Amino acid sequence: QKPIKVALLGCGTVGTEVVRLLTDQAADLTARVGAPVELAGIAVRKPNKHREVPAALLTTDADALVESDVDVVVEVVGGIEPARTWLVKALAAGKSVVTANKALLAEHSGELFQAADASGADLYFEAAVAGAIPLLRPLRESLAGDRITRVMGIVNGTTNFILSGMDSTGASYAETLEEATRLGYAEADPTADVDGYDAASKAAILASLAFHSRVTAADVHREGIASVSAADIAAAKALGRTVKLLAICERVTGAADEQAGAGNGAGESISVRVHPAMIPRTHPLASVHGAFNAVFVEADAAGEMMFYGQGAGGAPTASAVVGDLVAVARNRVVSGRGPRESAYAALPVRPMGQA
Ligand code: NDP
Ligand code: HSE
Repeated sequence: QKPIKVALLGCGTVGTEVVRLLTDQAADLTARVGAPVELAGIAVRKPNKHREVPAALLTTDADALVESDVDVVVEVVGGIEPARTWLVKALAAGKSVVTANKALLAEHSGELFQAADASGADLYFEAAVAGAIPLLRPLRESLAGDRITRVMGIVNGTTNFILSGMDSTGASYAETLEEATRLGYAEADPTADVDGYDAASKAAILASLAFHSRVTAADVHREGIASVSAADIAAAKALGRTVKLLAICERVTGAADEQAGAGNGAGESISVRVHPAMIPRTHPLASVHGAFNAVFVEADAAGEMMFYGQGAGGAPTASAVVGDLVAVARNRVVSGRGPRESAYAALPVRPMGQA
């Protein structure tokens, strides 16, 4: 069987672990996919610092790698550009894409989905929300026959690491943020984590998939944890509560929406918000510590479900990336493809600040 050739863009915290999984599990992956999965090249900025990967695979020319004879492009660089240009180009050329880039998806998912659907390529992005936890594929596939009403939980590992450290050991905000960065949980610019931008991007992706709509980060009401003080945590503790940064995506129904012109004519809209909340210490989310994430999903027929696991870090995230790579590689072997997303039911999003 012809090998599935893979271009890897980025070899940092996540990319290094992707290479490790592909190398350590090469034989097993070949059996699972039905063809060898072959790394054709790895694009980075500074090849000299990457002694852990074969030098012959490294390149600084990501454009040429994307345009080369590869079947799949795996993007773990981050940021909007040049990632957007690379991925649109790859999809337009019929190459499948796997990405962990929530910032990009929360801004440009419409363009990416359209490019994928136009060429028949796959676009998978399980690692973009909640690290290792299988959550997006259940929303896109397993729950596609149900009507999801709410998705709510902890989706940022860095801020949960900071808040749970402050709560349990009384560690300082600055100390815990430094540790989260050292452990590879934080974004390249950690203000994306602490100011809630990362969670807002993830909430936009969750709401888009859950409600088959197009929600961008700009639609999400956002408050971060920068203003949460040690005194706030102590006050919450005294009340039998703890502070968590929550992402909440809800399908809302009500005549008020129609009167405000926010409904879809059938009295439905979407509310998406990210903010710190005091929750009872007995609530299941209160026992989510460190960089773990937990997300509740409610659907009409399925009822309530909880997804829990490691939400950040190189190895957990690489697990989701390589899982997606196996899925798109299998699809290529059988000339099939995953779910289409460019068709959607455009539920309106409530103006920011309205719960
Ligand atoms: P890192 O900063 O550790 O790695 C980024 C990599 O991209 C580096 O190898 C860097 O090269 C390379 N790179 C940057 N710019 C370019 C460019 N212009 N051309 C070629 N290569 C480039 O990031 P992470 O691995 O932490 O994150 C990658 C993505 O995964 C981001 O989208 C992030 O949001 C997402 N993610 C991260 C998680 C985590 O826990 N870290 C979890 C879930 C998602 P060089 O090494 O030479 O500098
Ligand atoms: N910086 C992100 C977090 C990485 O802390 O959750 C995982 O998406």
